[in-house]
Amino acid sequence: MEKIPDITSDTLDKLRKLDINSVYQLAIQSPSELALEINDVYFDVESAARLIGNTRKILIENKILSKEFSTGDDLLEKRNKISRYSTGSSHFDAFLNGGFETQSITEIAGEFGSGKSQICHTLCAAAITLMKNDGLDANDNGCSTQRAPESIIFIDTENTFRADRVYQIAEQKNLDPKDILKRIYHCNVYSSEQLELLINDLPKSIEQYNTRLVIVDSIISLHRAEFSGRGTLAERQQRLGKMLNKLRRYADI
Ligand SMILES: Nc1ncnc2c1ncn2[C@@H]1O[C@H](COP(=O)(O)OP(=O)(O)OP(=O)(O)O)[C@@H](O)[C@H]1O
Ligand SMILES: [Mg+2]
Repeated sequence: MEKIPDITSDTLDKLRKLDINSVYQLAIQSPSELALEINDVYFDVESAARLIGNTRKILIENKILSKEFSTGDDLLEKRNKISRYSTGSSHFDAFLNGGFETQSITEIAGEFGSGKSQICHTLCAAAITLMKNDGLDANDNGCSTQRAPESIIFIDTENTFRADRVYQIAEQKNLDPKDILKRIYHCNVYSSEQLELLINDLPKSIEQYNTRLVIVDSIISLHRAEFSGRGTLAERQQRLGKMLNKLRRYADI
């Protein structure tokens, strides 16, 4: 982070106090929230926006993030790089034009018992086939460094995750179930506040566990249960919107 243009040691200290320790974590902050959290009269929303902008430039230079304005052929190249996780069902894959897209958010909606959680379990096994499990990464000098093998974070708000079901699906796909289960980081969540905090702090967990896929099953159930009645609808939608906006920014990088 010291390499970010115009960053002062004072700002660095304040960011570290907020547990923001990397360029990646800083780049996905929202300027208004960061200014509020830093709580310093000399660090307003404009300063936060400038700092985040400079940080994003570093990621653009390193080709981790797309340029602010991209040409059509850049977009086509990016689009061609998108892979798809096959669901294992040819009909469902055809419906999704080949499977679930990487670098994006997919929302699954359906009636109770229609199979949304089952799709999440299947996705765990399907996604691993596109991930590296050697944990090797090229660093700035082009040398390899050891990282955790690529992984999945499964955020469970309804206590429906079943490791034995993933095991069963993996076996059926002739994959190594033990390897897959070792690379799924599961977390039970019991309140809307806990979910919002977890999503806020997700960049740290994504870096720590070298995560390539985040599954939230379900994103709406806690908010739906806690915000009942028409009077609370506006606040509920605003809070859901904030979480989705954060997830969209994470998927971008
Ligand atoms: N081990 C299993 N093997 C095969 N099918 C299963 C298994 N477990 C559940 N199912 C099927 O999946 C259906 C339930 O799907 P799932 O729990 O994914 O629904 P859902 O859309 O997540 O529901 P909700 O909205 O209540 O969360 C059941 O009706 C059952 O037929
Ligand atoms: Mg479910």
